[in-house]
Amino acid sequence: MKIGVFDSGMGGKTVLAAIQEKLPEEEYIYVGDSKNCPYGEKTLEELQRIVSGIAEGLIREGAKIIVVACNTATTQTIGFLRETFPSVPFVGTEPAIKKACDESSEKAKIVLLATEGTARAPRTFQLIKNNKKPKQKVKVIPCPGLAKAIEKSLSKGEKSSGMSELSSALKILEKQGSDEVEAVVLGCTHYPLIREQIQRFFPKARLIDGGEGVAKEVERIVRETRQKETKSEER
Ligand code: DGL
Repeated sequence: MKIGVFDSGMGGKTVLAAIQEKLPEEEYIYVGDSKNCPYGEKTLEELQRIVSGIAEGLIREGAKIIVVACNTATTQTIGFLRETFPSVPFVGTEPAIKKACDESSEKAKIVLLATEGTARAPRTFQLIKNNKKPKQKVKVIPCPGLAKAIEKSLSKGEKSSGMSELSSALKILEKQGSDEVEAVVLGCTHYPLIREQIQRFFPKARLIDGGEGVAKEVERIVRETRQKETKSEER
């Protein structure tokens, strides 16, 4: 089955890797839209225009399922995509707040690192409200420029100007870092690409990303789609 996966660049490959590990036999079309990176600083209208163009292209190429491997695009546009293309199942990537809250202690301090777009999305606050245990504290830290700096540093190599942009984008964590934090949700698919750098600011925390959850959901939808296809062939 052809599965389309997209993100504003290389970040979505962290999600793609998790899906491929579960479903190695399927065929994948990956769109890394680095031309429009960062999505986190786009208006809703811009983002809707961008994602619908990508979805159209993927459907034209035969994608039967589309994975939005980007927290920013998911939290802001997944409803819009499902309404615009009702015949294709969309799987989104949401910040793994549920997993972080479920697996942390009753009074845990949890941090969500995200793009500005995800940090201000109503869906993000809904996720926190729905999943937080009463005494847990979930702090949202927007990281402007970080996804773009990661994209740049990876595409240009370590010695490039991308690395200095990366360290200045990480400065925000110097003030926010703490060894009291129990879990850090990597709420942007670019962030797992610099897991070690982020871990330094939160030495005792578990770093959690949404890749595995997305892979499970894709697996479920592939199974469901195959069952539907077999049923209609039998008719
Ligand atoms: N990797 C994306 C995310 O998960 C987008 C980052 C960006 O382009 O701002 O949010």
